[in-house]
Parts: sequence; C-alpha cells; structure tokens
Amino acid sequence: MCGIIGYIGNKKASEILYKGLKRLEYRGYDSCGIGVINKKLIIKKDVGKVEDVAKKEKFLEVEGNIGCGHVRWATHGKVSKENAHPHSDCSEKIAVVHNGIISNYKELKEELIRKGHIFKSETDTEVVAHLIEEELKNLDRNGENYITAVKNALKKISGTYALVIINEDYPNILIGARNESPLILGIGENEYFLGSDISAFLDFTNKAVPLEDGDVVVIKNNSYVIENNNKIIKRKPITISWSPEEAEKSGYEHFMLKEIIEQKDTLKISAKISSEEINELVKIIDKVDKIYFVGAGTSLHASIYAEYLFAKLGKLVVAVDSSEFLNKGVVDDNTLVVGITQSGETYDTLKALKYAKEKGAKTASIVNVLGSTATRIVDIPILMGAGLEVAVCATKTFTSQLMIIYRLFIKYGELLGRDMEIYKKEIENIPKYIEDVLNKREDIKVIAESLKANNYIFISKGINILSALEGALKFKEITYLHAEGMSAGMLKHGTISLIDENFDTIAIVPPKSSNVYNSILSNIEEVKARNGRVIAISPYNLENTDNIIVPEVLEEISPIVYAPAYQLLAYYKAVQLGRDVDKPRGLAKSVTVE
Ligand code: G6P
Repeated sequence: MCGIIGYIGNKKASEILYKGLKRLEYRGYDSCGIGVINKKLIIKKDVGKVEDVAKKEKFLEVEGNIGCGHVRWATHGKVSKENAHPHSDCSEKIAVVHNGIISNYKELKEELIRKGHIFKSETDTEVVAHLIEEELKNLDRNGENYITAVKNALKKISGTYALVIINEDYPNILIGARNESPLILGIGENEYFLGSDISAFLDFTNKAVPLEDGDVVVIKNNSYVIENNNKIIKRKPITISWSPEEAEKSGYEHFMLKEIIEQKDTLKISAKISSEEINELVKIIDKVDKIYFVGAGTSLHASIYAEYLFAKLGKLVVAVDSSEFLNKGVVDDNTLVVGITQSGETYDTLKALKYAKEKGAKTASIVNVLGSTATRIVDIPILMGAGLEVAVCATKTFTSQLMIIYRLFIKYGELLGRDMEIYKKEIENIPKYIEDVLNKREDIKVIAESLKANNYIFISKGINILSALEGALKFKEITYLHAEGMSAGMLKHGTISLIDENFDTIAIVPPKSSNVYNSILSNIEEVKARNGRVIAISPYNLENTDNIIVPEVLEEISPIVYAPAYQLLAYYKAVQLGRDVDKPRGLAKSVTVE
C-alpha cells in the first residue's frame, strides 16, 4: 500500500523524506514524490523507484525544513507522473499526501470543478487539496483559520485516509489526519515526523504516538496537539525497541534472504515473548463456543495451523480469509476472533476484528508491529517478536506466527490436563532444526536453478497443507511463475489432468509418524506415473524424486521447520530469473485498503 511521511524541524527536510521513503518503499513502489516548503512549495515526483526518481528529480537539492513525501501503490488512476503524490490545489501552495481511498471523491470533485477548480490528476487524493483551498477562500489569513479550514475539509470527506498536509502560506504548521489508515507521530529533539509506520522515521527517533481513527494532529511551534471530534486528546508515546540496523541488509544480497536466515534467532524470541497474554487468551479459548482465526495471505496460512493443532485437542477452530469474514463468520458474545497480521494494519483483518467487537465477541491479535492498529483494537494483543521485516514476502513473521500458535496449543493442552511435555521440549530444539534446513542452502539453490517448468503445484496432506499453500504463495509472488497449493487428496479431482513434463510438483512430505505419510507417497506416485517431475521437501530420500532433506521432527512442528526450505526454493528461483525479490511487482507489504 502507499506509504506517507511528513517532517517538521530544523534539519533539511528533503534528506529526511528521502531516507523515510526508502524505508517505506516496501509499501508501494510504482511512483513517489516529495513536497517541501522553502519560501515556495516545491513538488518533485515521478514514476519509478525512490532512488531513481530522487536522482532524476534532484530531491536532495531542495532546501527547507518542512515537507511531506509519498510512495504510491496505485488505487485510483493509472501509474503516471500526474497521479504520483504530493497533490496540490489550484494555487499550488497546498501539498497533500494520502494513503487510503476517499470514497466520495467523485461528488466532491464535480462540485469543486463547478466552483472553478482545475484538477491535474485522476486521483481521489487531489480533492483534499482543493477542498482546503476552497475552505480557505473566505477566511482571513492566519494560522488558526488555516487549521480550521483543514478540519472543515476533513469533515466533508468519507472513506479511509492517512493524510499529511503542508501549506506554503503556513510554513510552520504540519498537519496529519487519520481514519482507518495507519499514521504514527514520531517525536524527536525539536523535530516531529509523521509516518505510515515507524520505519519511516526509525533512523531519527524511537519515540512515537500511534494515532487513532478521527485524530487530527497539528504540529507547530515545537509542540503538537491531537484533536478527535473537536476534543483535545492526550495519547501516551511508546518507545520502539527495533533498531535502525534492522532496516539494513547487513551484507546480504536481499532482505528476504537475511530474514529467512534470521528465523533461527527470531524463533527464540517468539518462543518466550507475550507469555501473560498467551495465558489470558487460552482461558478465553476454553470458555467460548466458536473460535475463528482470521488473516490474509501468509497470515491466513498461519491461521490454518491453529485449525489443525486445536483439532488435536478436540477444540474446533475455523480459519477464515479475513476479507470474507463478514460473509461467513457466525459471531456472538460466545465467540473469539483472533486476527493474525504481521503489520497489524491489513484493512480486511481490522474490519473483521471490528465487526467481531461490535457483535460482542472477544477479540485478540497476533501481531509483529508494536503500536499498530491491531494491537490497539482488540482485548488481547499478542506480540510475536520477529523484529522488523522489510521484504514484501513474509518469511520470519510467518514462522513467528506459527510459534505463537504452537505455544497457545501447548498451553491449552495443559489447561485441559493433557501431557504436553513432548511438545514443550521441542520448542527449544526448533531453532536448531531451522539451522539444519538453512545449512542445506546450496542444495536448495541447485534444485531451484534446475526448475524449468512454467507451472508448479505444491501438495501435502494433514497439517502441512498450510505449508503447500504457503510454499506456492512464496513461489508465485516472487518468481512470477504460476504456482498453486492444495491438498494432495484433491489432486485427482481435477488438477492431475494438467500434470505432464511441463508441470512440476513440489510435495511436502510429513514425517513417518504422521497418519498421512503413506497416502502422500501414493499421490506422489500418481504424479510420476503421468511423467510429472516431483521435488520432495521430505525427511527421507524418496526414489526418482529430487529431494530437499529436512529434519525428521514431530508432525506438529513440521510446518515451522519446513518453512525455510520452500522459502529458499522460491528465493533462489526468483534470483536466477532476475526478479525484484524484495519488492515483487504489483504487491505491497501492508494492504491498507479493501
Ligand atoms: C500482503 C503481503 C503478504 C501478507 C498479507 C497480510 O499481501 O504481501 O505478505 O501476508 O498482506 O499481511 P499482514 O500484515 O496482515 O500479515
């Protein structure tokens, strides 16, 4: 999704905006721009990556101590220089950057055009700049009137937004506003930042105030005021423990590889963090009749882990694609809804959680980003402790989600009086198993580079169906090759007709202790009988198959242990194909629109 940043202070704004936009680039990257006031408002923007546009447009030559910036992931209007942010009014004094969708922009735009405004872009955002200009028309020029004009304009817009607004006539005022799109205020020494997330300003300060829906923050005279619904609100700053170094590649070619390798360490943190919250959630799990785990993309696959693990304890958990939750969730006050979300800002997941709350359900979240919306709107927020994840492809946050769910499973089993010792003991061993898989990097690379097909099917049975789904997702999102994940049992109900020498199968093989071990071997034979190549991610060497050998572990932890194997397979294939691994085309790390 789009990323926005704002700055006011005594440093060179263009440098800070540039650095912030580089950090935010994972949120969207079809175009970018900055707006800085140096007596006059100067806007520089174009289509392309931050580094290229900044060079071409000479971002860093712009002087001035207040500004805003944007990386775009197009929603309204094609990818073009005109549609890149910031957007300005007719007088070109006001600059606005926006993340979200203004749902009533068409009506507003028509009305503004009738009043003589001339629009330069096809975006929904541009109406905000013209609306403020219109509101200012009949007011005397002073700072208070300007702030009132912005607030009046905000009252007229509906939809979702995080906005940063600057005005050439008021070069000492930076304004931010939030409604259902993330916006965080960063507080430095005599300087303030606004960002879609903390990575935007983590290089400069770790003190932040996450803004809430309806908040308008006005920063001037080296202080800030937050208003919500015409009332001044005090919000407590939080201190972020992530370090800016986490946002560096530290010698790795890509963030994705760095983050895959970090799993041996992040899983140690996820094995210990949030104990109190886990205990609290388990008590609720025990009490309620209906439990949903909701998420999107990779986080939905993590939700499936809860379905399988809790089934072993006789507790029904249903994993639901959060974008469909309002259509199929049956929610009342005897329901628990757990949102799984790395960013804590995925629109559909937040919507599902808010809906659950309205219906009287208990809510919880498993989140990586401290201070994100999903940590603030639920009864029990659980942090997963994976550290900053920069690559668009979720890797270490996925295994940390699984670790938290595994710990919930153990705690719930204990609450039921079951012997969970065998599972508990394995928690400590998981990082070592992960290291074993990481040590197979070179073998995985050789197999990845030998893949020639254009189509891939990832199959498994039992709990590792989630690994098949996640493996296919990783593979397609960064290689741009077609991949599907499904249960091996489903193969013969349609998809097997596609199998031939041009359609490869990746089989995720459970350990022999699993009751589905033998049946997946039969499914593999069915593929081979149709001349299909099989690559097995398996604890054992299978015949006539390319094998990626992983440790033989309890089936219950195998989805965690196997993950780096298919993550690396996707990674090396994408590198060989020359793909933009960390920022695959058309994708965004955090999807903050519907
Ligand atoms: C996007 C990302 C995925 C992620 C999904 C859910 O599609 O590209 O990697 O799994 O959003 O994100 P969340 O932050 O809610 O886990």
